[in-house]
Amino acid sequence: MSFRGKVAIITGAASGLGMLTAQNFAADGAKVLLTDVNNDAVEAAAEVIRASGGEACAIAVDVRCFEQTVAAAELAIAEYGRIDFLINCAGGAETRVCKCAKPFHELPVEVIDWGLDVNLKGVVYFCRAVLGTMIGQKSGVIINLGSVTGVEGSSGAVNYSAAKSGIIGLTKSLALCGAEHGVRACCVSPGPVLTREAMAKMPTRLGRAAQPQEIVDLILYLCSDKAAFITGTNYLIDGGRSCGGM
Ligand SMILES: NC(=O)c1ccc[n+]([C@@H]2O[C@H](COP(=O)([O-])OP(=O)(O)OC[C@H]3O[C@@H](n4cnc5c(N)ncnc54)[C@H](O)[C@@H]3O)[C@@H](O)[C@H]2O)c1
Repeated sequence: MSFRGKVAIITGAASGLGMLTAQNFAADGAKVLLTDVNNDAVEAAAEVIRASGGEACAIAVDVRCFEQTVAAAELAIAEYGRIDFLINCAGGAETRVCKCAKPFHELPVEVIDWGLDVNLKGVVYFCRAVLGTMIGQKSGVIINLGSVTGVEGSSGAVNYSAAKSGIIGLTKSLALCGAEHGVRACCVSPGPVLTREAMAKMPTRLGRAAQPQEIVDLILYLCSDKAAFITGTNYLIDGGRSCGGM
């Protein structure tokens, strides 16, 4: 797949799936704007892409701040003139990221807010920040990272699970908003992915966790013209975990 001349914004691009997605887009010819709350790491990730011949720049964005998402969209236009893809990778389970192992009924409100704000509100903000540009261009693709947890539920990450369920509905609504303007939206909901060693412990029917590249390959396919008839749908990529009985 060639993305030559295309422009991609990736959130959560300082590590894991976001960083690998940015590297893949750049290797396939796209210009990429990497965004992440971790300024030093996202600058370093953009530098790695530039050092290998790709076109990339970076901006620190906390997706919980609408003004920062708008600033990122404006930077993409200023640097590259258009926005073809938005890949919303920023996120994570609040109990893990906030290092709070308490049960839901004892969670501090700050932890609840982090889970909902980063995993759902931040995605809404970033979509709001780019959709007008995509509608004006009469083209664009938004890919939102969900999770199998958004389908299964989770007693250990209740807000993450609620937010990831919400992402499926958000994606359908974005597809409805964008359809008549040539803008598509899809949700990619992985099971365990080896961006972290610990994910190997989460069981799947295929007996393993996904390699990050397997998830990125689906994201790239959904962004490509080969997926031109696909919008509004959620893609579980979970090694059969959601078949049940795990
Ligand atoms: N790894 C998995 O097993 C798995 C499974 C299902 C879904 N997912 C989803 O895939 C996406 C990427 O996961 P990953 O494994 O690459 O995670 P990761 O932790 O490696 O990357 C997440 C990135 O988001 C950034 N981030 C955190 N808070 C932010 C904020 N407020 N604003 C902007 N950026 C922020 C982090 O700095 C980090 O770089 C997430 O949405 C995650 O929920 C991952």
